Amino acid sequence: MRLDKLLVELNIGTRSEVKALLKKGLIFVDGEKIVKPETKVDENTAVITYQGRKYTYQKFHYYVINKPKGVITATEDAHERTVMDVFYSQCPDAPKGLAPVGRLDKDTTGLLLITNDGQLAHDMLSPKKHVDKTYYVELDGELSSEDVSALESGVHIGEGDLTEPATVKYEGGKSCYITIHEGKFHQVKRMFFAVGRQVLELKRTAFGPLTLDEEKLPEGHFTTLNPESFSCK
Ligand code: URA
Repeated sequence: MRLDKLLVELNIGTRSEVKALLKKGLIFVDGEKIVKPETKVDENTAVITYQGRKYTYQKFHYYVINKPKGVITATEDAHERTVMDVFYSQCPDAPKGLAPVGRLDKDTTGLLLITNDGQLAHDMLSPKKHVDKTYYVELDGELSSEDVSALESGVHIGEGDLTEPATVKYEGGKSCYITIHEGKFHQVKRMFFAVGRQVLELKRTAFGPLTLDEEKLPEGHFTTLNPESFSCK
């Protein structure tokens, strides 16, 4: 890859800014000062030094954010604050082109994966891959054992077919965990509505191999993921 392109990818500056930095002799590649923007470098091995900081290239980036309430799941929006606004405000140096994987409603909190790895995003969302999503749900009332059985075996949410099998962890009271692998619009809220309950609070606690640890990741915070730590096969 051309050195100027790599520097832009590393978020060191815009094309013209990095050209100026190169001209001033401020960029080192593997310890050697390079001034020509067109110099070819191996982006997979090159260590760039600028202002004493070392940069290495990584094609794909993965983060998990604990989505707070009141923001929409979108990359940008003309009117509403998005989860990516929350993310970039804390991590302005993160690469461009990141996007949330899937969608949580504006009033839903919890685990949301953010990446520029389109293939992984596609796999995590593909209905064929049956990736589990677990939600903690607070309700306006208790569930009967018939409600739990209906939720687990499938309910009508106005889509023709019944919802696919789900797992409900309910130990009495007005809250439970539900694990589903579909991702229809407002699916969890509609499933509980189908058994006569209203969802008051909804939080995603797991998505495929990822789980939310709220002690380490309070609402509105993000963490960087090591790509080796998860996959979606
Ligand atoms: N189901 C819902 O109803 N809302 C969400 O945000 C996620 C799943």
